[in-house]
Amino acid sequence: MKITLKTHVDPTTNLVIPILKDGTLADTLDNIATQVGLPALALQTDFTAERHEVLPVYQPNGQKIYLLGVGEKPGSMDWLRTFRKLFFSQKDKLPAQMAVDLTPYDSDTVEAVILGILGGRYDLRLFQTGDNNRSAKPAAFFADSGELTVFVAESELVNAQAAVDRAGIIADAQLQMLDLTNAPGNYKTPQFLSNWAVNSGRLHGYDVTILDKAALEERGMGALLSVSQGSEQPPVLIVMEYKPDGATQTIGLVGKGVTFDTGGISIKASASMHLMKSDMGGAAAVLGTMAVVAQLKLPIHVIGIVPATENMVDGRSTRPGDVITSYSGKTIEIIDTDAEGRVILADGLGYLLRNFQPDVVIDLATLTGSVIAALGYHAAGLFTQNDELAAQLTASADRTGERIWRLPLWDAYREDIKSDVADVKNFSGKPLAGAISAAKFIEAFTDNHPAWAHLDIAGMAFADTEFGSQKNATAFGIRLLVDYLRRKTTVVD
Ligand code: BES
Ligand code: MN
Ligand code: ZN
Repeated sequence: MKITLKTHVDPTTNLVIPILKDGTLADTLDNIATQVGLPALALQTDFTAERHEVLPVYQPNGQKIYLLGVGEKPGSMDWLRTFRKLFFSQKDKLPAQMAVDLTPYDSDTVEAVILGILGGRYDLRLFQTGDNNRSAKPAAFFADSGELTVFVAESELVNAQAAVDRAGIIADAQLQMLDLTNAPGNYKTPQFLSNWAVNSGRLHGYDVTILDKAALEERGMGALLSVSQGSEQPPVLIVMEYKPDGATQTIGLVGKGVTFDTGGISIKASASMHLMKSDMGGAAAVLGTMAVVAQLKLPIHVIGIVPATENMVDGRSTRPGDVITSYSGKTIEIIDTDAEGRVILADGLGYLLRNFQPDVVIDLATLTGSVIAALGYHAAGLFTQNDELAAQLTASADRTGERIWRLPLWDAYREDIKSDVADVKNFSGKPLAGAISAAKFIEAFTDNHPAWAHLDIAGMAFADTEFGSQKNATAFGIRLLVDYLRRKTTVVD
């Protein structure tokens, strides 16, 4: 699908007009009513501009206008979701040529709307056969011959074009990460993640090194190895590096890549275990961000690390009570084999810190059910001792609508991870403050880095969406990180 920007609204197109539910509503509807030859009152009784409300009306020339309610004060995520839902649900009915009137709005809104429209293409039916398969009958609008015209104000044209280009790159990464996160565990092995990274690195010009099982053994990555021990699938450490000339800052990103989490010997209940194919949502955020950063050619040095493994039940699995030695040299008493994410992050962070000198370190992980108990499915937990980093990440979260909320890291919680026999233990044994003690555990492997942040995205990576009836992937974190990284460099428009 091709996207073109224009500065004058052309009535000969099938047009989507977003409508705000504010003081301008009556006037807006009056104008549209005149244009389409309807009594103003008809539109006003039928359309209240509630978010997601859609009213299709025909223009005298036979072209359609979709009035799309966007509610009172839409934020970036509201714009994205409203457009995504419309284009997803109408996908098969949409003509190949569509237009959107964004004349009153700025380029940030243009970016969000384009992300929403492109996201509407997503289809979960990868494994359905025959006519139901998603590639069987591509929607005309989303086919290569489809066309989208976006009307913007003359003064926004330059910024809007940049926003459209950026949105295309971000949406592409997001759609791929939706596929990767939704992929079942029998397709998506640690090797599958590393193949994705290698291909992306080749395609977009960044370095990807894969440490295989032998390399992990050689380097003493005992934490990652211990989690993978019960699996037939060998673990990998994916190391990605994007290093443009002249970059003055280095950012390290680490993403939890558990391709399936049974809990191990501390096995999970079966009712929602199938959802644990999504336990690599942190890895998806990091993989997707690397691809975007390289394509946007951001002038910043970014390292992405993904420890990838399954957490399985087997005669060789790590036992509760086992003591293991991490890459950092610190020993870990495994109280609960289901607290495996923090264990593999210990080695991911250890590798990052010993082999690179990042100015900032951010890890993302679908780490705890506890963060969902605290924040539900509306925000990720943010943990950091660095107020400036907290402010920057929170600002990016507010701008993109990928919400985060800060939780404490007070040393009082260190008690929870004190082991009698090893340097640390991986679980307090108590059903209290689980997201915080997990963060305290990870902190023990950050070498007291002054700018480390941990994002617990357990509630955000896999959620209810219009794409399906069960929870499915969101690609959470890519927009957040890309916004943060763009603002870190000076070239933000
Ligand atoms: N992957 C899970 C956390 C999770 C739960 C993610 C629900 C998404 C949705 C993690 O590995 C885990 O099992 N955490 C345990 C830790 C506990 C055993 C200390 C949890 O939160 O219950
Ligand atoms: Mn687990
Ligand atoms: Zn897990």
